[in-house]
Amino acid sequence: MNKIIIAIDGYAATGKSTIAKRIAKKLNYIYIDTGAMYRAVSYFGLQQSPEGKINFTKLIASLPEIKIHFENSEKGLQTFINGENRSLQIRESRVNEVVSVVASVREIREFLVEQQRIMGNEKGIVMDGRDIGTVVFPEAECKFFLTAAPEIRAQRRHKEQLEAGNNESFEAVLANVKSRDHQDSTRVTSPLTKASDAIEVEVSHLTIEEVLQKLQYHIDKKLG
Ligand code: CDP
Repeated sequence: MNKIIIAIDGYAATGKSTIAKRIAKKLNYIYIDTGAMYRAVSYFGLQQSPEGKINFTKLIASLPEIKIHFENSEKGLQTFINGENRSLQIRESRVNEVVSVVASVREIREFLVEQQRIMGNEKGIVMDGRDIGTVVFPEAECKFFLTAAPEIRAQRRHKEQLEAGNNESFEAVLANVKSRDHQDSTRVTSPLTKASDAIEVEVSHLTIEEVLQKLQYHIDKKLG
């Protein structure tokens, strides 16, 4: 059977990664979490500047030193930065606070997009992010764009954060979700926007299983 590229874009905390992982598992495809890559660069930038303010000139100059790779484990997809597992650290609130600014820097996007294209070279991938259907793989055979009300997304993310031991208030999570949406949608370099040929799915009142069913229907049509 022909392998295809499945692009899943959308707003923060719409469940893109959960959906993408499940689809990849079912099809025996590779899942690539591009958000984790922007988070990894953000984490590296924060580590480089102990005073907590990223020095962008320094970070851009260091990009060739940042080696990101993923490994599957029983705990799910793990993100490694220069050989160290940083899966938990990249989800901390200090990273949430800077990641959208980091992701608005053209040089950083070019650096990561190039790697994402190489990863997708062989097809048979599910990639989630903000610009996969528009910029990384405009030729992807299947494109989805997930949306949901900010309060519902923040509730989900708040629950996940608490489970991971990050004690942030619901209000703080909601404010971060909204500010990242704004920053991601208004940046100059590849802003978050629905590709004209993407299928939009409003997930506010759908369970994960219902979202999966909807996406699977369109994927099955493409796969014939
Ligand atoms: O999981 P969540 O939806 O909260 O975010 P994520 O997918 O981990 O992405 C974190 C941030 O990285 C986003 O808010 C964007 O600023 C940036 N990002 C991006 O600009 N382009 C992508 N392809 C993926 C993420």
